[in-house]
Amino acid sequence: MISEKIENILNEQINKEFYSAYLYLAISAHFDEMGLKGFSNWTRVQAREEVDHGMILFDYIIERQGKVNLRQIDTPDTQFGSVIEVFEKIFAHEKYVTDSINCVANMTDEECDLATRYFINWYISEQVEEEANVDDVIKKLKMFGDEKAALYHLDKELAGRTYKPHSYEK
Ligand code: FEO
Repeated sequence: MISEKIENILNEQINKEFYSAYLYLAISAHFDEMGLKGFSNWTRVQAREEVDHGMILFDYIIERQGKVNLRQIDTPDTQFGSVIEVFEKIFAHEKYVTDSINCVANMTDEECDLATRYFINWYISEQVEEEANVDDVIKKLKMFGDEKAALYHLDKELAGRTYKPHSYEK
């Protein structure tokens, strides 16, 4: 069974993961409006992965005899700028999520909850991958600057991203 503190921080993390899904969906709609179908696809796939992140926490709380407590999800900011500005915002958001996961890990140490510490390691690795994926797109965008042809090709590349359900492997 998990402690009240761990239950609370995991419920907060569920909210952050579902907010992340909302944010990526809002960005996906923005890219659709711009006619950038590949960028829209990439962020839409990411939104589905964020839902998976939330659900893995959801299932873990139940498995550990805790109580799932779903909270209100904030409306994402829809003031988006250029494509690179959007990706810089995404990177900042992922860094925020990484910090949040690190706080969960710290609390498991404080609470001597080794099972949750082991569980949260999956998220620590996942965040390394998430930041690297976003950084990869930012590097490409910086390399090509405002070149429309390069943006067109990158859009085609990002159209190839497919959704694979994320699951927590013990
Ligand atoms: Fe679930 Fe992008 O953090």
